[in-house]
Amino acid sequence: MAPEKLYEGKAKIVYATDDPNLVSQKFKDDATAFDGKKKGQIAHKGVRNAAISTRLFRLLEENGVATQLVERTAEDTLLCKKLKMFPVEVVVRNYAAGSICKRLGFEEGVKMKKPMLEFFLKDDSLGDPLITDAHIEELELVTRAERDEIERLALRVNEVLSAFFAERKVILVDYKLEFGIDSEGNIILGDEISPDTCRFWDAETREKLDKDRFRRDLGGVEEAYEEMLNRVES
Ligand code: TMP
Repeated sequence: MAPEKLYEGKAKIVYATDDPNLVSQKFKDDATAFDGKKKGQIAHKGVRNAAISTRLFRLLEENGVATQLVERTAEDTLLCKKLKMFPVEVVVRNYAAGSICKRLGFEEGVKMKKPMLEFFLKDDSLGDPLITDAHIEELELVTRAERDEIERLALRVNEVLSAFFAERKVILVDYKLEFGIDSEGNIILGDEISPDTCRFWDAETREKLDKDRFRRDLGGVEEAYEEMLNRVES
């Protein structure tokens, strides 16, 4: 019997498993940008992102951040704890790039004085807008205690990943995290960490090694994902 598809997102398909507390996440080669307005495929992305995310989630587990990952069951598939996801995306910025340049006039590549945390509402129909603590409170998206724990975890992720990538001559410019609650009520890191959800720049040349190559039609998209897999596995 084919596994029941629970949800299909832009980059992953989530399937039910025999265990109600576990789901299977299949990473797709499909790529979108600008709220799905731009669509394409990136060859081998599913397999490479599954591998990269597995390596990074294991690293985070070793460093005290609980993640959704149980095991990689196929090249493009991860068995994961089922989470009730919070309706927010958490972005951490170490250097200015992307939307903060457009929104606030930062010059791309300027280093932040300290890691900057931003919350976005996960709602495609609204274009995932930036939200403030007042919005989070009024809309009851997460409780104050959950918000503070998410911030603590996101900054811990930043310490661990920034050091890991620095050793591999990669600048972790910014990235997006998603958190949820497991069946025991713990706040757990979910979704993925990959070149789809991070900006990675080569530390020496500042060459972009992430989805910005697709977003901005820079060419060398597959090669960038392959290079990041090699660096993460080195
Ligand atoms: P932004 O500069 O467009 O706000 O993106 C910040 C970071 O979040 C960047 O590393 C890309 C990542 N991101 C996602 O993973 N999903 C998204 O839908 C968006 C808009 C950004």
